[in-house]
Amino acid sequence: MTDQPLVLGIETSCDETGVGIVRGETLLFDAVASSVDEHARFGGVVPEVASRAHLEAMVPTIERATREAGIRLEDVDAVAVTSGPGLAGALLVGVASAKALAVALGKPLYGVNHLAAHVAVDIVEHGPLPEPTLALLVSGGHSSLLLVPDVTHDIRSLGSTIDDAAGEAFDKVARVLGLPFPGGPYVDRAAREGDAAYIDFPRGLTSRRDMERHRFDFSFSGLKTAVARWVEARERDGQPVPVADVAASFQEAVTDVLTRKAVLACRENGVEDLLIGGGVAANSRLRAMAQERCDAGGIRLRVPRPGLCTDNGAMVASLGAQMVARGRTPSLLDLPADSSMPVALVQA
Ligand code: KG4
Ligand code: ZN
Repeated sequence: MTDQPLVLGIETSCDETGVGIVRGETLLFDAVASSVDEHARFGGVVPEVASRAHLEAMVPTIERATREAGIRLEDVDAVAVTSGPGLAGALLVGVASAKALAVALGKPLYGVNHLAAHVAVDIVEHGPLPEPTLALLVSGGHSSLLLVPDVTHDIRSLGSTIDDAAGEAFDKVARVLGLPFPGGPYVDRAAREGDAAYIDFPRGLTSRRDMERHRFDFSFSGLKTAVARWVEARERDGQPVPVADVAASFQEAVTDVLTRKAVLACRENGVEDLLIGGGVAANSRLRAMAQERCDAGGIRLRVPRPGLCTDNGAMVASLGAQMVARGRTPSLLDLPADSSMPVALVQA
């Protein structure tokens, strides 16, 4: 159908410069330039380095996306961009670029929430979102449980991490185990050869008292410290560290808490559809455990393919296309780059 809105989406909240082109519910092309290699030796994303990399990558990435999608910039019906949350300087590059593009093309501009975009991306993968959907978003920057009655304007936070994000815990544990950055994929791979019951690591915020005060919140900092202590004790005793077993036991603790709380949130809110997004959604154990527990609870599970779980422009374009399709008012041209944009604010 050609009357569906053609939207160009720009994402620069962290270290990926993403430009996606979506027509309605169809992804035409998703171009991503990552600066992750430039951060590897620091063991984490360096904001200044990320901002500069966005500046250099922006124009070539827009050109690549439009060329590969087979469209001209003039054909675009609207421009969408991540307004927040994220790294302030990095967001600024995307927001300024999107404004310039919208003004030059004379097209409406939508500044959107990064977390809402992580939810909306699954529309181009698995079709329209059931309303409501429950979303578990787990990445290097966020860990949230969201109730989503309408991804274009009604998102409610049920809980989030009170310290480290899930992906951050994977990255820190990988470092303790001598694995490269970003550590998630390496821990995942190492864990396949390991015994997940080797060490009974703590499940954060699951005690009876915590389930009253922090029912749908997460905490991974205590777990990360427990892993570090365990490894240090081994090394002090001059014993070899069983990397695969530690990785598997750590991963089991993280995925156990994430899936347990997600399924409980579905049940208590009468929601039958769970969506998992963010970089950690690529984790093989998380996917398997979520599938098992959803099957047991009569819940349908949706997980976008790994390339759409990590930060990208298609997610922003997909949310933008929903905004246009539902007749939402465009953002003003002075829309901010808001590093701490609340999740309940879908559009800036
Ligand atoms: O969504 P994303 O690309 O960027 C952020 O917004 O943070 O997520 C990156 C995070 C990193 O912490 C990385 O270690 C983690 O996702 N990650 C994984 C896996 N693949 C990526 N964590 C666990 N298992 C994986 N297979
Ligand atoms: Zn993200």
